[in-house]
Amino acid sequence: MSEPPFSVIHLRDGTLGKLVRLYHEVTSTNDLARTLAANNAPEGTTVVSEKQTTGRGRNGRPWFSPPGGLWASIILRPTDDGNIPLVPIACGVAAAKAIIDVADVKIGLKWPNDLCVRQRKLGGILVERSYTESTTGALIVGIGINVRNKSSDLPPDLATTAISLRDLGKDVDPLHLLREILGEMEIRYEPVGSRKTSDLLDEWRKLSSTLGRKVVVKSNRGSYCGIAVDIDSTGALMIERSDNSIVAVSSTEALEAKTDGIL
Ligand code: BTN
Repeated sequence: MSEPPFSVIHLRDGTLGKLVRLYHEVTSTNDLARTLAANNAPEGTTVVSEKQTTGRGRNGRPWFSPPGGLWASIILRPTDDGNIPLVPIACGVAAAKAIIDVADVKIGLKWPNDLCVRQRKLGGILVERSYTESTTGALIVGIGINVRNKSSDLPPDLATTAISLRDLGKDVDPLHLLREILGEMEIRYEPVGSRKTSDLLDEWRKLSSTLGRKVVVKSNRGSYCGIAVDIDSTGALMIERSDNSIVAVSSTEALEAKTDGIL
C-alpha cells in the first residue's frame, strides 16, 4: 500500500470527492491513484498533492508541478467499456466549466482536452487505464491546472506557452476548484456510461478552440493535416484534408496535435 496521506477529507457528497487523500509531495498523483485502485479503493477516490516530483503529461512528456497548482487524480470504474474514449472529453468539459464558473475566465478546449486561455496552456488531463489481476480495470483521471503557481516559475520553454490563474489576476483555492470540477464531472460521467452523449459532444464543440482551424495531428499511422471540422461520437477529431477526404483521429492514437495559431 502507498504511503499515508497527511489528511483525508470529505470534499463533497456524491461519488466523486467523497474521499480525498491529501499529500505534500508525491512522484505523480496518477501513480498513487493507480496503487489505490489496485487495492480496491472505491470509485471517486481522489489523490491530491501540493507538488509532484515526476508529474507526467500526455505522450510521456514531463509535467512540472510546483506548489500552488492543482495536481489531482481521480479513480473511475466505468462499467461500459464502449464509451471510455469519451471520458477524457467529459473531464475536459467539466474542468473548463468549473474554471469558467470559479474564476470567470474564457477557456478554450484544444482537442482533445487541453485547457487554454489566451492561446496558452492553463491545464491538461491525462487519463490512464489501470488493469490488475485482482480488480476490474479502473481509469485514472489526472488533472493538472496552474492555479496559484506563476508560469514565470516554470522552465523557460513553458514559461512562454503556459499560463496560471494567478497570472490572470485570479486568486483561487485549488481545493475549491477541485470540488467544482468533481461536481461537473459527476454530471457528465453518468451520461457517458449510459451512452447519452450528444449533449456532452455539443458542450465540447461550444468550448472548442480547435474546430474550424488548421491542424496537424501526428499519430503512429502518420501525420494528418487539414481543417478540424468536428468530433465524432467517440471523441475522435475529424479532419478535412485538401482533397476533401475526411480522416478521424482518436485521442488515444494522437501523439501530437498542433492547431494553427494556438500553442
Ligand atoms: C497534459 O499533458 O496535458 C496532461 C497533464 C496532466 C497532469 C496531471 S497533474 C496530476 C496528474 N499526475 C500526473 O503525473 N499527471 C496528471
